[in-house]
Amino acid sequence: MNEAAESGEETLKPMTFGVEPYVSAAYARAEGEKLWPKVWQHACRVEEVPNVGDFVTYDILDDTILIVRSAPDRISAFYNVCAHRGRRLMDGCGHATRFHCRYHAWQYDLQGENVRVLDKEDWGGALPPERLRLRPVQVDTWGGWVWINMDPGCEPLRKYLEPAASMLDPFELEKMRYRWRQWGYFDCNWKVAMEAFIESYHVEGTHPQLLKYAEFYTWSRSDGLHSHHGFQERDPGLQSSESNTIIRAGRGTDARISIAELQEEVYRTVNASTTRTFVNAAARLTAELPEGTPPDKVMAHYMESAKRDDAARGVIWPDITPEHYAKSGIAWNVFPNLSIAHGYTFALCYRARPHGHDPDKCIFEAAVLERFPPGEEPKTEPVFAAPTDVAKWRSVLVQDFANMSEVQRGMKSRGFPGTLPNPKQERPVINFQRNLARYMGTGAPQPHV
Ligand code: FES
Ligand SMILES: [Fe+2]
Repeated sequence: MNEAAESGEETLKPMTFGVEPYVSAAYARAEGEKLWPKVWQHACRVEEVPNVGDFVTYDILDDTILIVRSAPDRISAFYNVCAHRGRRLMDGCGHATRFHCRYHAWQYDLQGENVRVLDKEDWGGALPPERLRLRPVQVDTWGGWVWINMDPGCEPLRKYLEPAASMLDPFELEKMRYRWRQWGYFDCNWKVAMEAFIESYHVEGTHPQLLKYAEFYTWSRSDGLHSHHGFQERDPGLQSSESNTIIRAGRGTDARISIAELQEEVYRTVNASTTRTFVNAAARLTAELPEGTPPDKVMAHYMESAKRDDAARGVIWPDITPEHYAKSGIAWNVFPNLSIAHGYTFALCYRARPHGHDPDKCIFEAAVLERFPPGEEPKTEPVFAAPTDVAKWRSVLVQDFANMSEVQRGMKSRGFPGTLPNPKQERPVINFQRNLARYMGTGAPQPHV
């Protein structure tokens, strides 16, 4: 499929596309045949299965997958279905030495082999092991996630993920661990939820309180199956390597103050996309630098001091050149349903999946990752949170969520002629729809003239 995505040139032009993928029950059902069984999906983090016997179940529409640490150096994945009469085998996550079916007590080992059939002799020897074992699913790891693919003939994970994998490798996502994770049922199509996080064109309309701190003009790129975007100065003459990153000088005449205010605001209202180290180092800037220090000098001092603070507590920053950081932007959409907003020591990640076959519902999850000193990684559990729960989600994400159900409703109006993404800042939306259409064999975005 990667070669089908090619250069993404057509996403540079104004494009439009219809609402069927978001609102049609038939389309949602077809995704269950043409999309989900064919793509690599991140099922869990490697940190969720550290010991042999640790398992996680991952459900996508009618399929349920069992991911297990089957040996110290191996993670295996199987369809989570008993070979006897089809009972779903395991629920949630946990630890097992064998998988016991709770219907007729058949058992499977961690390699998926059946190791117990009650009254096996009743079958008169007609139970070959290959009929009894759990059916395998393709599995691999990248970025600290366990990925699965139900297509036995799928391309290798690494090839599927490029160029996102090579662009994000220097950020060492695999060394990050969960800081918090939350999920909920949302009243929108899973694609409406994903598309809320693959562009920053929405900041002025959705998060107006952030405008006093910074500009949010962006560039965006199609990268084959995937896409990404980053900040850009409206005036190209002002562009610097920091312009592009999530940690940057804010608006205002005194960069010492604007950086500190922006960091404090992001920490308080997003609870992600920065760390305590960055917030604390920003708060010290006015004490450490004289008034009138030029913004680039303030930023250089700030980054050095945050890096040094982290090193002192055992968090060594990855080695990333400013050029690479600038090219990597602020957020990636990994097709179809992983969004990664990355930084030196943190990442804010989103996933949306269909909830049953209802095109108007999805399961939405956010995972905040961070680099911790060795041995100080927190123990986290996924926390359920309704989309209106400001205390749990904080105000910025709740602002994003408020758009989702309204988009889902608005798209159904007979007065809406189709989607018209910004050809410069919302290329990820166009590219996503283009790649989706290729998998689905349906109409792709068309030039809007
Ligand atoms: S369905 Fe699992 S043992 Fe019968
Ligand atoms: Fe947003």
